[in-house]
Amino acid sequence: MPLPSSVSIIGASGALGQGLALRWAQAGVPLVLGSREAQRAAEAAAAVVAAVPGAAVEGVDNVAAAAVSPVVVLSVPFSAQAKTIKQISESLTPGQLVIDATVPLAAQVGGKPTQILGVWQGSAAQQAASLLPEGVHIVGGLRAVDAGRLENSRITESLTALMIGINIRNKAHAGIRITGL
Ligand SMILES: NC(=O)c1ccc[n+]([C@@H]2O[C@H](COP(=O)([O-])OP(=O)(O)OC[C@H]3O[C@@H](n4cnc5c(N)ncnc54)[C@H](OP(=O)(O)O)[C@@H]3O)[C@@H](O)[C@H]2O)c1
Repeated sequence: MPLPSSVSIIGASGALGQGLALRWAQAGVPLVLGSREAQRAAEAAAAVVAAVPGAAVEGVDNVAAAAVSPVVVLSVPFSAQAKTIKQISESLTPGQLVIDATVPLAAQVGGKPTQILGVWQGSAAQQAASLLPEGVHIVGGLRAVDAGRLENSRITESLTALMIGINIRNKAHAGIRITGL
């Protein structure tokens, strides 16, 4: 599969955004890192370049980041998802792909990280789909495995809470692998 011309990460100063940025930088993907504060985005970009010298990474505010790449990753807490989408919506254009990484963990509203919040639309990804401009495509998750309709994101998002619970109980870093494809 060809690499995208660039990938923008909204909320790139966070744990997931930094992890994704490092791995994509190592794979040679040009990156545009977004933050609510351009200065924080610049610092996040500098951290990636320090770890991956020569990486093509810049840091800008979320609204600017959303406008420039064919692929845009939304990596903010669920509690900030709707607000963030509304902020970047005017920057998005039909044909762009949004990868929604948000998981509606109860921890984000003071509950347990092993529990999932109920979302009226069915899942965080479906809530995102309901808020994004027409013509902007959306998928939930990051592996290029076709898992069917967006409704199935309620299952994949729930796996995060399950894995957190398994890892807490077993003091492990267990994961899930799709085999046989
Ligand atoms: N961490 C993981 O391993 C992991 C794995 C799977 C899924 N996820 C999901 O991916 C998303 C991001 O995870 P994370 O651990 O990177 O989260 P995080 O560190 O808590 O937040 C990511 C970024 O979102 C921005 N943000 C925080 N609060 C905000 C608010 N109230 N309004 C707007 N922006 C806000 C911040 O960037 P600025 O302050 O720079 O704007 C922050 O650095 C979450 O929904 C999480 O459930 C995380």
